[in-house]
Amino acid sequence: MKTVVFKIKRQANPDSAAQWECFEIPWKPGMNVISSLMEIATNPVTTGGVTTSPITYDANCLEEVCGSCAMVINGKARMACSALVDQLEQPIRVEPLTKFPVVRDLAVDRSVIFENLKAVKAWVPVDGTYDLGSGPRIAPSEQEEAYPVSRCISCCCCMEACPQFNDDTGFVGAATIAQVGLFNSHPTGKALKHERLAALMGDGGIQECGYAQNCVEVCPKDIPLTRSISEVSRDVMAQAFTDLFRR
Ligand code: SF4
Ligand code: SF4
Ligand code: FES
Repeated sequence: MKTVVFKIKRQANPDSAAQWECFEIPWKPGMNVISSLMEIATNPVTTGGVTTSPITYDANCLEEVCGSCAMVINGKARMACSALVDQLEQPIRVEPLTKFPVVRDLAVDRSVIFENLKAVKAWVPVDGTYDLGSGPRIAPSEQEEAYPVSRCISCCCCMEACPQFNDDTGFVGAATIAQVGLFNSHPTGKALKHERLAALMGDGGIQECGYAQNCVEVCPKDIPLTRSISEVSRDVMAQAFTDLFRR
């Protein structure tokens, strides 16, 4: 019988030491890492014959839309639901993202991205208490520019791969910068443009980016992060310059 071997890094709680466990499960056509974790959960016995607990992980949509199943698979940050077993070298090594606190096993706390998105006001400000009528029209060419960036699923793969995203820099990361560009380009969203760009100035802001482009290589949604970062960087510089002469 054809089988698949997994080595999975596990951790019982945020403070406990990590350890590796090995599992061998039957091969099935089209299986991916999440379906394999589900299979392991039906009979959580290691290759050494030890009965253990099912592996904890985050997942929801199973179609690369919710952004919750990001893990490090064979050394690369990616979505587990779209990681096809047949395309991976075995044993398949699965680890939690390394730049985020582990909650348990493969589940990590990625709340930092939501705090960063709040800090830059990554939304279109709309007063929903009364009928505003239809919104401003957006030309198809502008929609085509904005759409790729709007596909961000907040998975944090770009931050995991970024050499600048660490506790020393406090860098916000590529996803947040791209969302600043997206909401600043929206006819209603641009009302907060000044505040968004101001939030990217100083420590942890856009100047921390070293343009290494690791982010764009791992983004599962092919978001043009390099273009976004350079456009937002240009806007931040222009605003810093204008603010200087306003004083
Ligand atoms: S370009 Fe490099 S430094 Fe900048 S966000 Fe992407 S990975 Fe990080
Ligand atoms: S920019 Fe790409 S890698 Fe980063 S959070 Fe969004 S979808 Fe994930
Ligand atoms: S489960 Fe939603 S992106 Fe993988």
